[in-house]
Amino acid sequence: MLKITQIYTTPFAAGTPKPLPALLPTYAPFPFLLAKGHGDQVLDDQGKPFWDFYGGHCVCSTGHCHPKVVAAIARQAGELIFYSTAGSVAVRDKAAEALLSFAQSEAKLGLGSVFFCNSGAEANENALKVAVLMTGRTRFAAFEGGWHGRTLLALSVTDDPKITQGLEPLLAPCERLAWDDLAALDAYDFTQVAAVILEPIQSMSGIRTASPAFFQKLQAKAQAAGTLLIFDEVQTGMGRLGHPYAASRYNIQPDLITSAKGLASGVPMGALLISEPIARCLKPGDLGSTFGGSPLACAALLATLEVIQGEGLMDRALAAEAELRKGLSGTCVSSVRGEGLLLGLQIPGGAAKLKQHLYSKRILVGGSSHPEVLRLMPPLNLSPLAVAALLEAVTTFPSGD
Ligand SMILES: Cc1ncc(COP(=O)(O)O)c(C=O)c1O
Repeated sequence: MLKITQIYTTPFAAGTPKPLPALLPTYAPFPFLLAKGHGDQVLDDQGKPFWDFYGGHCVCSTGHCHPKVVAAIARQAGELIFYSTAGSVAVRDKAAEALLSFAQSEAKLGLGSVFFCNSGAEANENALKVAVLMTGRTRFAAFEGGWHGRTLLALSVTDDPKITQGLEPLLAPCERLAWDDLAALDAYDFTQVAAVILEPIQSMSGIRTASPAFFQKLQAKAQAAGTLLIFDEVQTGMGRLGHPYAASRYNIQPDLITSAKGLASGVPMGALLISEPIARCLKPGDLGSTFGGSPLACAALLATLEVIQGEGLMDRALAAEAELRKGLSGTCVSSVRGEGLLLGLQIPGGAAKLKQHLYSKRILVGGSSHPEVLRLMPPLNLSPLAVAALLEAVTTFPSGD
């Protein structure tokens, strides 16, 4: 990328420059206009449906426009769209209580309080900041292949050269440890480290899981060194693994859990779930966010939790996973990684052609930074029809092309 000094000293190329789009390009979008969403489908502007195994990037936990979520948002919008935490609002307190109780509905996690913010990166920024506040240390540890967001501190603990290049040296010193490697954990001295952060299942790098022994050892090592353990559950939380959070699934009590994506069914929201001893140390003013915990987002979160629990979405996610695993065995997919509805399909020789084939069958899936792995992160109430459509499309994929 040209540096600003070079831009100002380089004369314009001859001719008229191409007009700029008003909206700064970020991703390469799907080649159609999205108009509507309903359940596990989105519709283009011609009314043609696509099965959405991408979920707006792992966001639409309850499906698109679930009627209970829509009604809750509409009700709250008619009462009070916004007030910052300078004013107490009942729906915000209720949402915090409901989230803590959901997170600990399967296993005791020792959580005390929730801080609401607006995104996954903001939740991670605040988690890392709390770790510095609590330890007085400024170094971090993270894992090879880990992905934690695009803000500068979150990038410091992220291992993805595509988004960190040009930004080195990153804001904070961070050691990257080998993933799921017990010997590397044993050899590492955590005593100067404020926090160690990880995705319990690494998503972007191709749905990489780790062994229960790895989580146990990491927790023990961090505790012994006075290093905070941060579970980045931006993707793995909110029931996606068939359990409230991966922490309960793996029986780990992190000091901090970050959550976002599916929290409020698509209304922007992030959350930092804080263990009781740490929550007791934080005082007003340590953390804050104007929009964090807006009444509108809190109403959407409450409705999302009601749907996940009331409609058995965690069990449905596990049932859909089982159907997908059964149907994909013996196809061009050599292995299915992950858990619940955070799945990676490994396609030897490359995933891009299968992704294109699925698109031609009107099925949206996600890529990953692993060239052989496609990701599925659909709504948790994925229908049997959607599962059947995906299996049919994979089975008819002319692999070897
Ligand atoms: C594991 C993980 N952490 C953090 C983030 C950042 O979340 P956001 O884009 O909401 O800032 C992401 C986003 O994809 C993520 O997958």
